[in-house]
Amino acid sequence: MTETTASLFAGAAGYYVRYRAAYPDDVFAGIAARLGLDGRQRALDLGCGPGTATLPLAGYVAEVVAVDPEPAMLAEGRRLAGRSGVGTVTWVEGDSSGLGRLGLGAFDLAVMAASFHWMDRPVTLQALDGLIRPAGAVVVVTGSVSGTARDVPDRPTWADAVVAVRERWIPFRRRWRGDAGSDRRTYSQVRREHRDVLGASAFHRVESFEVRWGRRHDVESLVGLQMTMPDSTPGALAERAEGFRDDLRAELIKIEPSGVFVEPIRTEVLIGRRE
Ligand SMILES: C[S@@+](CC[C@H](N)C(=O)[O-])C[C@H]1O[C@@H](n2cnc3c(N)ncnc32)[C@H](O)[C@@H]1O
Repeated sequence: MTETTASLFAGAAGYYVRYRAAYPDDVFAGIAARLGLDGRQRALDLGCGPGTATLPLAGYVAEVVAVDPEPAMLAEGRRLAGRSGVGTVTWVEGDSSGLGRLGLGAFDLAVMAASFHWMDRPVTLQALDGLIRPAGAVVVVTGSVSGTARDVPDRPTWADAVVAVRERWIPFRRRWRGDAGSDRRTYSQVRREHRDVLGASAFHRVESFEVRWGRRHDVESLVGLQMTMPDSTPGALAERAEGFRDDLRAELIKIEPSGVFVEPIRTEVLIGRRE
């Protein structure tokens, strides 16, 4: 594990559970239907975070092995799994770079939900090629890509306020740009599309579907959401955290005095198979 992957989401786990949206059921029902999941499969959830995909996936397979480099994320996952009483989940500390060494056994599918962009993707797919059974699949869930409701052209939206405040409080050099030598850049600026990376791997036969959904926010949930981003966790902002939060609250209310915000979300699912 590199120091970078271990510390990226340090301090974000509690905020993550509270402010990041769970995926809609259609995402996992869609994966299960396309892969014929019938409760007998073994799944890997790589970059599982606090189990956002792990827990719903566990309802469709015999076992999910949930791997993440961040111990606080795994602790939240264990806690939530205990509360929801889902099927069998094994939580493992590790990351994509050391997969072969974890001794995880064979899988029918590997899911990477909102995590593939943090990995050296070709190397990860190569490692997965050694772990996934011949008829198995790799599933990349792009996470919850936030669109912005722009009802009135040129009128600033809450997302514009977030961008402006981030630019004021997060020095450019600290905004996540990824490691030199890896293909990670930022969560929004991965150079090659996931689909192309899959297409060039052993899991080159790619099908996809998307689920469009949305959620409503108030000021505090939009502020909390920022606390889940690696470059604006309370730890990353440190002494600037309070100023950042206050500035964002003020900007959001200026844009929408009602304090009610809509976040349209698009979740794309890519399923890569060998043949
Ligand atoms: C944005 S969160 C996604 C969590 C969850 N899968 C979800 O869908 O909400 C990304 C997660 O990937 C993990 N991560 C970062 N680099 C990783 C790597 N190289 N291998 C595995 N996981 C990694 C982080 O610790 C974090 O928990």
